[in-house]
Amino acid sequence: IMENDDLILPKDFPKLKNDVFLRACQGQETNHVPVWCMRQAGRYLPEFREFRAGKDFFETCRSPAACCELTLQPLRRFPFDAAIIFSDILVIPQAMGMDVQMVAGKGPTFPEPLKEPEDLLLLQPKVDVNKELGYVFKAITLTRHKLDGKVPLIGFTGAPWTLMAYMIEGGGSTTHSKAKRWLYRHPEASHKLLKMLTDVIVEYLLGQVAAGAQALQVFESHAGCLGPVEFQEFSLPYLRDIARKVKDQLKESGQDVPMIVFAKDGHYGLEDLSQSHYEVVGLDWTIDPRSARERTGGKVSLQGNMDPCALYAPKERISEIVKKMLEGFGTRGYIANLGHGLYPDMDPENVGAFVEAVHTHSRHLNLK
Ligand code: CP3
Repeated sequence: IMENDDLILPKDFPKLKNDVFLRACQGQETNHVPVWCMRQAGRYLPEFREFRAGKDFFETCRSPAACCELTLQPLRRFPFDAAIIFSDILVIPQAMGMDVQMVAGKGPTFPEPLKEPEDLLLLQPKVDVNKELGYVFKAITLTRHKLDGKVPLIGFTGAPWTLMAYMIEGGGSTTHSKAKRWLYRHPEASHKLLKMLTDVIVEYLLGQVAAGAQALQVFESHAGCLGPVEFQEFSLPYLRDIARKVKDQLKESGQDVPMIVFAKDGHYGLEDLSQSHYEVVGLDWTIDPRSARERTGGKVSLQGNMDPCALYAPKERISEIVKKMLEGFGTRGYIANLGHGLYPDMDPENVGAFVEAVHTHSRHLNLK
């Protein structure tokens, strides 16, 4: 598909009409609590399944027009307050030279995962993100134009430890024992890899902002398999580095975008995460809203954290759960979301009920 030239340049973007999400990231007052869902572009939507049918997953990721369409699909159905660009965290290992395939029924698969420290030599040491990941930047620019200012566009990346875990495990895992073996047996090589990933991630996020991303989320999806000690050594320093470097660079050009860190199952790190240069800390559903507020001491905005499985409940029950969640977090400095992504078997109607409950209850609470 040939796109109009104006839509491929990261300039003259349409004026933003709904800034509720960006305001909440900065802890400012809003009329209602903003809401979006992780994996809001996904297989629970029939139009997504139809569009993706018969196409390779990473081929889809490489088509800006396809990414744009998939990003916009959920926005046509639900009044979400933010869009997240359709892509995947594993485009970074690909950019570093690794082969990654999406295997139906199995998930992402690396035919040749990293096995020993020598394998680091096989990775591209300096990645030209414009060359290797320019397709993501193009997707962001096009989508930002096509969103027509409806809501802000979120860019994202995987965090170093989560990407390292995939690169060594070669796919999903419950124990992550192969990757953790590296932490205990090859700490130096682990740090070397984490540092390499951090460098690419910083450039990648800066490229996303230059292309038009208005907020950035860093997914540390595998925080939960680390303990507090390993988290302190192998995850947190890199998460901090990423935020600091991205923010410093943006500041030099007079820019600023809110950054969200989502360390799934990383309870033990909550205090530290709230002091890591991110405006927003994303939470999974295993943390109680009030204790999350206490432990983060009002230093950051919070995002989350309804159990995705609560979407299997009847709509009235979803509404009650949302109300409790809003009362727990309060309506200021809060972005409603799920504690993790939507699952393919979820009913779009219930997703709509979730969004509506957030908007209705939060408006009501704000009037009290
Ligand atoms: O709507 C959105 O949230 C934006 C799109 C998005 C995708 N992947 C699209 C996708 C985002 C933010 C991701 C990030 C991602 N990818 C993460 C971090 C978030 C998390 O879940 O913790 C991780 C761990 C991955 C790796 C990955 N990609 C997995 C584990 C899977 C699932 C495999 C499966 O078959 O269930 C994917 C595939 C994937 N990424 C899908 C989507 C919509 C589904 C596959 C498809 O569309 O064919």
